Amino acid sequence: MDKVVLAYSGGLDTSVAIKWIADQYNLEVVTFTANLGQERDLEPIRRRALDVGAVDAHVTDARRMFVDQFVWPALQAGAVYEDAYYLATALGRPLISWLMVELAHEIGATAVAHGSTGKGNDQVRFDVSIMTLDPDLKIIAPMREWSMNRDQEIAYAAEHGIEIPVTKESPYSTDENLWGRSIEAGILEDAWNEPPTDVYEWTVDPATAPDKPAYVEIAFEHGIPTALDGEPLDGVDLIQRLHDLGGAHGVGRTDHVENRLIGIKSREIYEQPAATVLHTAHRALETMTLSREQERFKRLVSHEYARMVYDGLWFSGLHRELSAYIQINQKNVNGSVRVKLYKGDCAVVGRKSDDALYREELATYGEDDTFDHEAAIGFIKLHGLSQQTQARLQLGAAGPAPVLPRPDNDDPA
Ligand code: ARG
Repeated sequence: MDKVVLAYSGGLDTSVAIKWIADQYNLEVVTFTANLGQERDLEPIRRRALDVGAVDAHVTDARRMFVDQFVWPALQAGAVYEDAYYLATALGRPLISWLMVELAHEIGATAVAHGSTGKGNDQVRFDVSIMTLDPDLKIIAPMREWSMNRDQEIAYAAEHGIEIPVTKESPYSTDENLWGRSIEAGILEDAWNEPPTDVYEWTVDPATAPDKPAYVEIAFEHGIPTALDGEPLDGVDLIQRLHDLGGAHGVGRTDHVENRLIGIKSREIYEQPAATVLHTAHRALETMTLSREQERFKRLVSHEYARMVYDGLWFSGLHRELSAYIQINQKNVNGSVRVKLYKGDCAVVGRKSDDALYREELATYGEDDTFDHEAAIGFIKLHGLSQQTQARLQLGAAGPAPVLPRPDNDDPA
């Protein structure tokens, strides 16, 4: 019998999928679960897969790989989608896809399956990654194919002796890994509703956060964080520390109406304490070490990079090219940033770098000033010349703002 590798979370959907795929497609189901830092013990999940009827169940700790090959490059790139989302889920999908395809090859499976619905971005990321890595693998997405609602799934589970997970059922749809947690659906679907307190699991309410701020010093080498308060740390541990500290001070909550790739706007809540602290600090170090022109161009690249990740195009040529730029761009992003975490806010209060372009002797208003004040005069003359000429010849009298025609409100636009 042919085999299929199913991405298995241990929840109701993918548990029902084990049985459903076996029946519907006449395949032997092998499950695959990756630990990307979602704070769960995977052994019970492995056992559960076997109980439900998987012929084999694989779990793997992919946290290190996730951080080194996905999270750090995205941090170096300054990747944030729509100024709100540090792409935790979007970064995890290509890694899970890659590991699943590897496993499929190892065990000679002819298909892979995932539990994404037909309305989200994740189906796109999985499908596009898998079809790129191995065009011959068949892709099965049970939740896109079956027409069961939640109650019908529960009935299906009961009928086939699939134990319903005992965890209390969340009123939301969530996804998490060490880089962030997303919460959608339920009462949040009305974009007017303030998120209830039970939405948040990683961060305290900023209003009840400690009255005393926390300070932390983050060291970077080539744009990658390497130490906290002088203590060198492995990436996974470093993120975990900032996760705890940021969360305790209410840092990293975001409430965002997001444009999905498939055309829907969706209301998303994010908790991203470590990502918020690290992106804030990283950007601050770039202001010290990149030139004005590099900063300007890097912003364009950050934007393109974030979009590429969001859209599921990790295994693209564009990614390789943007990455090459980023690696060169980050060469001098070395140094330390001190941040202050206080009641939901993450403020940069200090930055230093041996590779800084910021020079006190140029910036100072004190007596050590080395800046050539005379040179400013000629520079300003030429900088203003074009505008001065145009105003004289074409623009007429200058006012505080350009005079614009007023749009007629009755005009059908
Ligand atoms: N909106 C985010 C994204 O598209 C989070 C998606 C969360 N996925 C989930 N299955 N709940 O990347």
